[in-house]
Amino acid sequence: MTPIRVMSVFGTRPEAIKMAPLVKELSRRKDVESLCCVTAQHREMLDSVLDIFKIKPDYDLDIMEPRQTLSTITTKCLLGLERALQEARPDLVLVHGDTSTAFSAALAAFYGKIPVGHVEAGLRTYDRYSPYPEEMNRTLIGDLANLHFSPTAANRENLRREGIEKGIYLTGNTVIDAMATTVREDFSFGTEVLNTLDYQGKKVITVTCHRRENYGQPMEDIMAALVHLAGTHPEVELVYPVHLSPVVQEAAHRHLDGMENVYLIPPLDVEEMHNLMARSYLVMTDSGGLQEEAPALGKPVLVLRRETERPEAVEAGTVKLAGVEYDNIVALAHELLTDRLAYEAMAHAVNPYGDGHACERIADAIEYTFGLRDKPPAEFGA
Ligand code: UD1
Ligand code: UDP
Repeated sequence: MTPIRVMSVFGTRPEAIKMAPLVKELSRRKDVESLCCVTAQHREMLDSVLDIFKIKPDYDLDIMEPRQTLSTITTKCLLGLERALQEARPDLVLVHGDTSTAFSAALAAFYGKIPVGHVEAGLRTYDRYSPYPEEMNRTLIGDLANLHFSPTAANRENLRREGIEKGIYLTGNTVIDAMATTVREDFSFGTEVLNTLDYQGKKVITVTCHRRENYGQPMEDIMAALVHLAGTHPEVELVYPVHLSPVVQEAAHRHLDGMENVYLIPPLDVEEMHNLMARSYLVMTDSGGLQEEAPALGKPVLVLRRETERPEAVEAGTVKLAGVEYDNIVALAHELLTDRLAYEAMAHAVNPYGDGHACERIADAIEYTFGLRDKPPAEFGA
């Protein structure tokens, strides 16, 4: 029998981290021919993930430009994917999440009349400008996709409310699968300064911040709050691997350079990042992925955004929305640094996003769709 040709398309760091275990799972299946196309919307940050997971793409569109705009990303991806899809002729295209790579790939596949599977489907804030442009990207992908792999029951409900009935599978998030291979007690960091931090005696805070809707005043306020916290809490060591976006680099270095207990470092590879979080006291971030990973590691998270499409860990009590205003960020962080009970109430491991078997379920669902399996996979959490 001819195997089904499944092409996974991704381009940024978080998509790569969350698609890597799925690419591996698909390549283990005998009835699947797994192809991988990267847009390289991110270049260095993508390559770092490909190296760690030892993935060699079949197609590399190499589209990244400094200070790229949403239109340049989208048009370059669309044109590159048109060619790649014409050559590879896959039976199914898999995209992940809500980036402009994912949206363009889903659209290119639709134009080529190739079915689309959406991994991490159904996350919503219902505010089209926050996160921007991700909320619109993922909503449009929902319309384009034939298969929807929802991490949580709430994500599936969002899709059903939008009138999508068929092709939804409740799988858990593949990021929890990825963490099974990265977090280790005896881990030694390639970034030397991380081996020298006093994780027991000090309070290490891991920080990241990169979202487009935080560019400008929100990012100014977030940085000012970090300066205040580091300045008033000598027991804190603030570790901030700075995203390579020139906008973010400029803001972070202008505010935080020269502070004794602040470490502005280049982006970490994913193994280092997971192991840094596992050793930290607290995580402060506007990242989507970190909101899923830190709760699994039992680490409290302050989300530097006005909303979140990931309410599950907020409901479980390990994540708080801190917003983007200086006073609120400072007050919430100060509370977690000084009030033991408040800290302990948040610092417990929960895993609302997955059980480490999301990729198996997605691969099973694909085989089921193509008639290679009698039954759909059991749902996550069933
Ligand atoms: C993108 C995604 C966002 C995701 C984020 C993950 C869109 C519109 N945005 O946003 O959803 O949360 O990735 O990090 O799809 N750069 C480099 N090297 C790299 C990566 C980036 O130099 O390896 C620089 C380039 O100058 C690039 C800029 O960062 O132009 C911004 O990258 P871009 O992908 O446009 O936006 P992100 O903020 O990374
Ligand atoms: N990450 C990483 N190195 C870093 C910062 C983040 O490997 O220096 C990982 C992080 O663990 C998570 C993913 O990148 O798996 C999140 O990516 P990002 O915050 O850029 O995007 P988002 O999840 O917000 O879309």
